[in-house]
Amino acid sequence: MCGIVGYVGYRNAREVLISGLAKLEYRGYDSAGVAVRTETGLTVRKKAGKLANLVADLDQDQIEGTLGIGHTRWATHGLPNDRNAHPHATEDGRIVIIHNGIIENYLPLKEALQERGHTFRSDTDSEVLAHLIEEKYAQEDGHLERAVRAALKDVRGAYGIVVTHVDHQEIVAARTVSPLVMGVGEGEMFLASDVPALLPYTRDMVYLHDGDLVVLHQDGYHITTLDGTPVQREVSHIDWDAEAAEKGGFDTYMLKEIHEQPQALTNTLMGRLHDETGEVRLDITLDPASFDRVHIVACGTAYYAGLVGEYLIEQLARVPVEVDVASEYRYRQPIVDERTLVIVVSQSGETIDTLEALREAKKSGARTLGVINAKGSSMTREVDDTLYIHAGPEIGVASTKAYTSMVGAMLLLALWLGRARGTLATERGQDLLHAARELPRLVEESLTPERVAAIEAVAAKYKDARDYLFLGRGVNAPTAFEGALKLKEISYIHAEAYAAGEMKHGPIALIDASLPVVVIATESVLLEKTISNIQEVRARAGRVIALVSEGDVEASRHADDVIVVPRADEMVSPVVNVVALQLLSYFTATLLGKDVDKPRNLAKSVTVE
Ligand code: G6P
Repeated sequence: MCGIVGYVGYRNAREVLISGLAKLEYRGYDSAGVAVRTETGLTVRKKAGKLANLVADLDQDQIEGTLGIGHTRWATHGLPNDRNAHPHATEDGRIVIIHNGIIENYLPLKEALQERGHTFRSDTDSEVLAHLIEEKYAQEDGHLERAVRAALKDVRGAYGIVVTHVDHQEIVAARTVSPLVMGVGEGEMFLASDVPALLPYTRDMVYLHDGDLVVLHQDGYHITTLDGTPVQREVSHIDWDAEAAEKGGFDTYMLKEIHEQPQALTNTLMGRLHDETGEVRLDITLDPASFDRVHIVACGTAYYAGLVGEYLIEQLARVPVEVDVASEYRYRQPIVDERTLVIVVSQSGETIDTLEALREAKKSGARTLGVINAKGSSMTREVDDTLYIHAGPEIGVASTKAYTSMVGAMLLLALWLGRARGTLATERGQDLLHAARELPRLVEESLTPERVAAIEAVAAKYKDARDYLFLGRGVNAPTAFEGALKLKEISYIHAEAYAAGEMKHGPIALIDASLPVVVIATESVLLEKTISNIQEVRARAGRVIALVSEGDVEASRHADDVIVVPRADEMVSPVVNVVALQLLSYFTATLLGKDVDKPRNLAKSVTVE
């Protein structure tokens, strides 16, 4: 969690830091801070709350310098107030550090440092690093790189750390688990937790690996392992359009990303579906005959994409699939062997629970595949194969286009496996290939101004509800789960989701005239049963918002409100249906005045356990 930026060069460091942090606020926004090496020493400024608070403070009193480090925080240890904000300085202010991650043994380290006379000024685990480096700096005769290396030998946990000292025009940084990428410029060097922070300045990036320690000067850098062995890391040239990470005319990143879904899906599917031959080509080394079962492991929205994947893979490829949330999978001693394919699904490729679950599975000899968005992320470096979803940078904390692209990728995988394992009849395969190819167009049709306005009207009607229930069946049960998650995340309305047939076993007790119930009643072999569920809700005075396929007459008759979506083959319909639910949440939240891009307490990428 948290965002880090570092700069050494010839520009005004403050500007580079603030523009970089603005791109990283999705990683956390409990507080923000910078340290700049000025003519009089290291000046630290930090403020609780969003970056704008820090900017207002800096505007009143400018700081000038060509070296600096900056941070935007998502609190783990200590309240999100000014004093717990990073950077943290030693008592004499000569060393400042920023840390992303968790120092697991910080308590014994802190006690020992206090006994040796150090006074702590925050409640964070991170501050121990500043004091520890100060001690090592003295022991290493004023050699900052060696001091950082020595300090890191004493700590256990996860970190991306950046350090600077008042006497040195250099930044020392290191990482284990928490991501760090270095930007290479001419006469200047950059560091950040993520590429978009650096794109305005350079497109040449070096992804630091776990255990790398780097020293940055204006004129270059050198990388070593933690024990001091020099290593070379490849420089990757990034060809993303910097504009791609901006809002592009929409009020929010979330709305922009909802509207980017046709393009994102095209990118996911493009070049992988071959009409002429009816083939799916995935460019992975995985042997479809090399496993007898599949485990899908993910968190949050990616987990729901995994649930759709389970349905599709079992239906089309007839392989048993289990889906787990990563934080449970890691600790439940799953039965994994060399004949198990473990699929990790992740937008960021950095979610620590998913990454650690992957590592556990690898220990048991599993084959591994990542369904991942972020290029070069930690998971992509550890899996046997990556099926990139190619959704482009996703900034809104509530995931939208990454979800539909993940489901698109799952569909490709299920089709590919079904073909390769001989479980998918040629004709059905052709139909589904065609249905998959149609997805970008169908999602485009879901986003016409009329359809969007109709959903906004439904959102306005129910925005003051205290609770919501979402129901769906079969391949669209996960769509209901994801719909409820979106609503909770950004509007803070309590929402539950159930497989529709399960409603009678409990949630039905909740139904009364104040409860809106969103029912996914689109084209399906189970549609009649879903209509029975709608009637059960109506019989108890519940208010039904039915999601129906274009041309529907049956389900609509029983609903209070209807949201019409383009008609799609049931197997691909989760992609189409979820778009309407994203918009319902979006408008509910914005009508309630919520900040949808930065919902409270959440973060885009969770790199702590
Ligand atoms: C966080 C985000 C969610 C996301 C989840 C998994 O909780 O707020 O939107 O679905 O992490 O993230 P990943 O990057 O692994 O897909």
